[in-house]
Amino acid sequence: MKPHLLYQQLKPSAVPDEMVIHHNTQAPKYYRCILLTAGLVTLLLAVMFVQLLLFPLLLPPLNRAEDTLLRQEGGSCSDPCRIVLVESIPEGLVFNSSTSNPSIYQAWMNLIGEAQSSVDIASFYWTMTNEDTKTEEQTAWQGESVLKELVKLPGNGVSVRVAVNTPQASQPQSDLQALLDGGAVVRKVNLPKLTNGVLHTKFWVVDKKHIFIGSANMDWRSLTQVKELGAAVYNCSCLAQDLGKIFEAYWFLGQPDATVPSHWPSDYSTPFNKDTPLELPLNGTLSRVYLSSAPPALCPEGRTQDLQSILSVIEDARDFVDIAVMNYLPTMEYSHPKRYWSAIDSELRRAAYERRVRVRLLISCWPHSEPTMFPFLRSLAAINDRKSRLDIQVKLFVVPSTQAQAQIPFARVNHNKYMVTDKVAYIGTSNWSGDYFLHTAGSALVVNQTASRSSEPTVQEQLQAVFQRDWESVYSTQLSQDTDISDICAVK
Ligand SMILES: *[C@@H]1O[C@H](CO)[C@@H](O)[C@H](O)[C@H]1NC(C)=O
Ligand SMILES: *[C@@H]1O[C@H](CO)[C@@H](O)[C@H](O)[C@H]1NC(C)=O
Ligand SMILES: *[C@@H]1O[C@H](CO)[C@@H](O)[C@H](O)[C@H]1NC(C)=O
Ligand SMILES: *[C@@H]1O[C@H](CO)[C@@H](O)[C@H](O)[C@H]1NC(C)=O
Ligand SMILES: *[C@@H]1O[C@H](CO)[C@@H](O)[C@H](O)[C@H]1NC(C)=O
Repeated sequence: MKPHLLYQQLKPSAVPDEMVIHHNTQAPKYYRCILLTAGLVTLLLAVMFVQLLLFPLLLPPLNRAEDTLLRQEGGSCSDPCRIVLVESIPEGLVFNSSTSNPSIYQAWMNLIGEAQSSVDIASFYWTMTNEDTKTEEQTAWQGESVLKELVKLPGNGVSVRVAVNTPQASQPQSDLQALLDGGAVVRKVNLPKLTNGVLHTKFWVVDKKHIFIGSANMDWRSLTQVKELGAAVYNCSCLAQDLGKIFEAYWFLGQPDATVPSHWPSDYSTPFNKDTPLELPLNGTLSRVYLSSAPPALCPEGRTQDLQSILSVIEDARDFVDIAVMNYLPTMEYSHPKRYWSAIDSELRRAAYERRVRVRLLISCWPHSEPTMFPFLRSLAAINDRKSRLDIQVKLFVVPSTQAQAQIPFARVNHNKYMVTDKVAYIGTSNWSGDYFLHTAGSALVVNQTASRSSEPTVQEQLQAVFQRDWESVYSTQLSQDTDISDICAVK
């Protein structure tokens, strides 16, 4: 009995369920609950009274931020938002499935075509032309045409701002130079110095109205040689302005000698988060949506941290959690000395054990995979036992290459970073290991349409179809205790 009580104390969210159950079976406990609740309410009222009396000026800053945002938008979030899942499918991949989505290339060209006043891009690095690899790849033309169109925008009166992680001397910078020559403003954000991470986020905000967010870097390979997934949302100023706040934080940090503020000014704060999401129609379906961000140092008041977002989405699942990420490691991959980091791993095991949630992980495998990833994945895959109703499965996704494709450095890999549960869709930009949530800048879009009764397919259903297509495809191999990794991943 004692551990049970302890558990309730640790997890207050479990209390209401318990009350409902005991309501029917144990009257005395029910009355205890009423007394307890009445006591708590009195205490709360007393505290509020004292606060109002003493600190009339200390109103919660979130309310103020909400006022500002709603005023900006004329008090309404009824934009006719339209969301489209978009993908890059590497050249040569063929799925035996009817599930297909518009390309990221198309989404980027649409966004450029829509732009009338501003394009803000948060990016890790830029290699949109084929110069970096010297492979003279035919499939570089999409990247090249995106860059060509972007460079033209400032001349047509569209402000273009690019926040990019400070390039190392060895990294190509000709794209950034081309952007500057075209009249774009580029700020190099020294995240390595500021937070010990990198600016790894990939998103676009156009006219403070349309957005793209997803796994694709500003790299020609992300359009034709690497498997990517993202979302484009059009005509959605409420959401775009909120993403704009994350951009403004990067923009601020891109100034010379900038430091991370210990407290971000209220302009950067947001009323929209996992507890109070933005309510808006997506393709006409009422949806609850928010954007999360990492690392914590870049999360102003009100912003849900990316890790908290992932943990809460897993915690909220009742039937299944499907995860497709490039890297999955319960470690601080880039930290020295080595650090074990089990926040997500524990939450997955907990979901499988406590709620019998089916967990499937589709992880990428290529010659550059971090070898320690596999024993940890095997340990997750070992939690599979029909009799105990434990169901965690892991598959490795490999993008095969022809000899010519194999010559393209850092291509031919599944770079997706998303999660879909029986409730929500989570579309992110981070690999899943500790550093990405604690030091590195990333962000994610979380879409919850559980309240909708529309007959339109939901984002969750569409994302689930993508996962299912990939999971069932010939490119996925079940990971078991004796799977030969070097064979599957072509590790040399
Ligand atoms: C494609 O899928 C269908 C239906 O799932 C199946 O009947 C068929 O055998 C598959 N074809 C190949 C080539 O895998
Ligand atoms: C945005 O909405 C306007 C007006 O309803 C429409 O003309 C336009 O095509 C929409 N833009 C996109 C990108 O969907
Ligand atoms: C989704 O929204 C429902 C209410 O419509 C809420 O109960 C649930 O907690 C939300 N899930 C997540 C992961 O935000
Ligand atoms: C994710 O991890 C891989 C392997 O460590 C790395 O190459 C990649 O740059 C990371 N970030 C991105 C862009 O997803
Ligand atoms: C929303 O509408 C667009 C077409 O306007 C469609 O491509 C997309 O799949 C729809 N998204 C959802 C989630 O239904």
